[in-house]
Amino acid sequence: MAKEPKMVGKVLFDEKQIRKRAKELGEQITKDYEGEEVVVLGTLKGSLPWMADLTKCIELNTIYDFVIVSSYGSSTISSGIVKIALEPTQNLYNKHVIVIEDIIDTGNTLAYLVKKLEERHPKTVEICTMLDKPARRLNDIKPKYIGFEIDDLFVVGYGLDYDEKYRNLPYVSYLEPDDVENL
Ligand code: IMP
Ligand code: MG
Repeated sequence: MAKEPKMVGKVLFDEKQIRKRAKELGEQITKDYEGEEVVVLGTLKGSLPWMADLTKCIELNTIYDFVIVSSYGSSTISSGIVKIALEPTQNLYNKHVIVIEDIIDTGNTLAYLVKKLEERHPKTVEICTMLDKPARRLNDIKPKYIGFEIDDLFVVGYGLDYDEKYRNLPYVSYLEPDDVENL
């Protein structure tokens, strides 16, 4: 049986740091939406661990929903082609929607998703991303809530994959070309 290596890549953020940041942002969201109900719309599959940490720290009436939006093939380079494979199931009309994302890179995925969500006339749409790579942005997508800003690195773990693997790692690490060859 293939075993996952003990340590994959070089650790950028460990679980403690990520949870601390999720708590800070959860508290911020609780203040910003005081007295309101929010729909947290997680992008599967990558946002799952971050969404779990974050939403446990939001003290508001909170409805879960999910979408599957994909822009990546099985490589580390964006294909630029975005498609929605699973639509939201909640009625988003007149709702406060917070899209929960693992990472924003070029911004192509989020630009497409936000445009599609706006067709449903929500009251507001904001984005809460665990990681942001602003250096690679190709549009004006600006998340209101950002866990951590990172350089132009390819990262895995805490929901993020390389060829569908390593989402389960309890840390975010970055892979250098040498690391990728040895996986
Ligand atoms: P964008 O459309 O270029 O912003 O890419 C967004 C999506 O690409 C994310 O939701 C991830 O699934 C994937 N992605 C971007 N950068 C990375 C990375 O460094 N590691 C793993 N997945 C990534
Ligand atoms: Mg992905």
